[in-house]
Amino acid sequence: MSYGKHLIIFTVATALWAAVGAEILPSPMKHCTLHDEACILEQVKIYFREFKYGLPAWNIPSVEPLQLGTLRIKSGGASDSMQFSLIMRDTTLHHFSDRAILRSVKGFSADLTKPLKLIWIVNSPDIEVRANYEVDGKLLILPIVSKGTMVINLSQMQSKTRITAVPEQRPDGHSYLKVTDYKTVAKVSSGSFNMSNLFDDNVELRDSTLKVLNDEWSALSADIQPKILEAADRAYRTVLQMLFDKIPYDEFFLKE
Ligand SMILES: *[C@@H]1O[C@H](CO)[C@@H](O)[C@H](O)[C@H]1NC(C)=O
Ligand SMILES: *[C@@H]1O[C@H](CO)[C@@H](O)[C@H](O)[C@H]1NC(C)=O
Repeated sequence: MSYGKHLIIFTVATALWAAVGAEILPSPMKHCTLHDEACILEQVKIYFREFKYGLPAWNIPSVEPLQLGTLRIKSGGASDSMQFSLIMRDTTLHHFSDRAILRSVKGFSADLTKPLKLIWIVNSPDIEVRANYEVDGKLLILPIVSKGTMVINLSQMQSKTRITAVPEQRPDGHSYLKVTDYKTVAKVSSGSFNMSNLFDDNVELRDSTLKVLNDEWSALSADIQPKILEAADRAYRTVLQMLFDKIPYDEFFLKE
């Protein structure tokens, strides 16, 4: 083989390698420098816009709606006026990824020897949670035993998520992030909900009960909201880990 041929093969191989190297992120996402928060926020927006229904090439599931699975909620004790045990199955959370307004993403670091502490702040104008429910409880002296479908609306949710991720070296020689903690706290300005099939859809009884329950929203939400957030954190953590498993952290940022 001539020197020229070697050179061509070498050049082609280098070009291929460079092309693969440049495609760590799924197009149209691009790399940012570490301290360019606006650029990083933009990439998260692009991810939600382009890949909210999943990224099949990487086996990443849809986040719109987000699948929350089964939630079990107990509220009140025997002496409380309202007391129930609620099971929500096939729970889905809608309009986080497509309507969220991203406020900030902070905490990335070039130091691969320490855990990263990421903080992500988001405002969500109108989140909807849907589920098949089963409830067994009582309101004053009225027993409530029913199953059907339920919708919970959460307005103006402001959420702050703290993520801890540890850089770890994998057999390919690159550092990847392993998520070790993912926790969201949130404030919601108001909430409302609806349930089908309550009292066999006896309209008067259903509407008056739903009115009482909705008026009690702040008490109810203290029991329900944390379960929703916990389930959403689990689902998002899984997706984030799948993304981090594909993106070598040491090649994530442009050199400054
Ligand atoms: C939830 O919000 C949707 C859209 O804004 C609305 O159509 C629906 O009636 C609301 N449901 C409840 C239970 O508030
Ligand atoms: C609540 O659900 C019932 C029956 O499923 C429906 O007729 C009613 O319009 C709903 N109300 C709201 C506020 O969504």
